[in-house]
Amino acid sequence: MTLPRPDASPTKKLYVKTWGCQMNVYDSARMTDVLAPLGYRPVTSVDDADMVILNTCHIREKATEKVFSELGRIRQAKDAKVAGGGTMIVAVAGCVAQAEGEEILNRAPTVDLVFGPQTYHQLPEMVARASETAGARICNTDFPVEEKFDFLPEESADPGPSAFLSIQEGCDKFCTFCVVPYTRGAEFSRTVRGILDEARRLVGLGAREITLLGQNVNAFHGEGPDGNDWGLGRLIMAMAEIEGLDRIRYTTSHPRDMDDGLIAAHGSVPALMPFLHLPVQSGSDRILAAMNRKHSQADYRAVVDRLREARPDLALSSDFIVGFPGESDRDFADTLRLITDIGYAQAYSFKYSARPGTPAAALDDQVPEAAKSERLAMLQELLSAQQRAFNQASVGQVVPVLLDRHGKRPGQLQGRSPAMQSVFVAANKAHYGSIVDVHIDDAFANSLTGTPVENRAVPNGQAPALEAFA
Ligand code: 5AD
Ligand code: SF4
Repeated sequence: MTLPRPDASPTKKLYVKTWGCQMNVYDSARMTDVLAPLGYRPVTSVDDADMVILNTCHIREKATEKVFSELGRIRQAKDAKVAGGGTMIVAVAGCVAQAEGEEILNRAPTVDLVFGPQTYHQLPEMVARASETAGARICNTDFPVEEKFDFLPEESADPGPSAFLSIQEGCDKFCTFCVVPYTRGAEFSRTVRGILDEARRLVGLGAREITLLGQNVNAFHGEGPDGNDWGLGRLIMAMAEIEGLDRIRYTTSHPRDMDDGLIAAHGSVPALMPFLHLPVQSGSDRILAAMNRKHSQADYRAVVDRLREARPDLALSSDFIVGFPGESDRDFADTLRLITDIGYAQAYSFKYSARPGTPAAALDDQVPEAAKSERLAMLQELLSAQQRAFNQASVGQVVPVLLDRHGKRPGQLQGRSPAMQSVFVAANKAHYGSIVDVHIDDAFANSLTGTPVENRAVPNGQAPALEAFA
């Protein structure tokens, strides 16, 4: 079999649809990079695409069904293309692909390729096999020995002002509700050299903020240039040396892996933004034990205290699950108390739902749906009130906002405050990609609005320097 020669092929249209977490967003960008030398260029419509990749997420309920219903729509597009004499390669990637494997090929004849998160560096070979041999259908859900990061090409696409960089994959924690250890495999860390090289390239391509990604990002322990194991704190200190990189973030963390070096980095590295997503899941020790979280609520509080000592303005986010099997009213009250005591800037919350193959799915005392709904509503009310108060406290302040998106309306850009709040700013598109001091005018449930300081009206009512934004 011969692989297509780089740049030998005419331009082909690649449509990628991404579900789920930021790691999937990163993976989709890298798949696009891998396919670029074969002539594939990203497009935004499935119609007329030469290749379609559905990069799937398995963490939410009915994830598999959502993929199959999307495949129904893709099939119509493919049928239309084939009827016109064309071809379309349809691929299912990501965690549903990893979990369902061959079953996808069996249930959806329209699918040509199924591959998991650890094998997409082999895409050129898979595509060649699918296109050369009529009817070749491939399922590639191995956890290969070779390291995919060693085989990925240098990133070519514009990462935008705020870029993702995967530094760690997989999870060894085996929380009893979670599918991730089964779909993403064992914990693995990239080398520091590979990460820093990629970070420098991203900054060279225009990124001003990098979010380091991993399923358990703070379990990172990569080989350093000195041959020693580096933890995340040390890596962040090295990242902060990169010229032009103004902001560093990381997600998602486990409370157990918040080590001294990382906590210290929150105090000593100004580029490390004062925001941390640190999931706790529950405030009840009984439930935390049943979840196999390997930390108590007191451990979590102690970590938060130490973090806030290092960085007093640290804004916190978390994930919560309500209605885990066996959760009583008392357990739930413990969660509400923890939330009240900690105070969150934002958070995600979910009703527990059984994932096939996970230990918690087999537990007897599942909580009735009505109780889950009631608890979720109470919890979200508390979290929303905290988020509103947190946002309200920003009104009247001046915060540096990285304008990394075009707003919904003309004359508007969107960005993030250091504490991860979405800020809508009246600013000219020339300011896209810059960090602008913004006076916060108003606060809403999930966002803020503001005016650039240099663009605010002077006391006599005249607006100076408007041309700068015109
Ligand atoms: N049920 C409900 N929520 C879940 N999560 C993971 N698995 C489940 C499940 N079976 C939530 C956790 C995790 C987030 C990404 O998704 O809160 O931190
Ligand atoms: Fe899932 Fe727990 Fe691992 Fe997070 S730490 S990915 S919740 S098993």
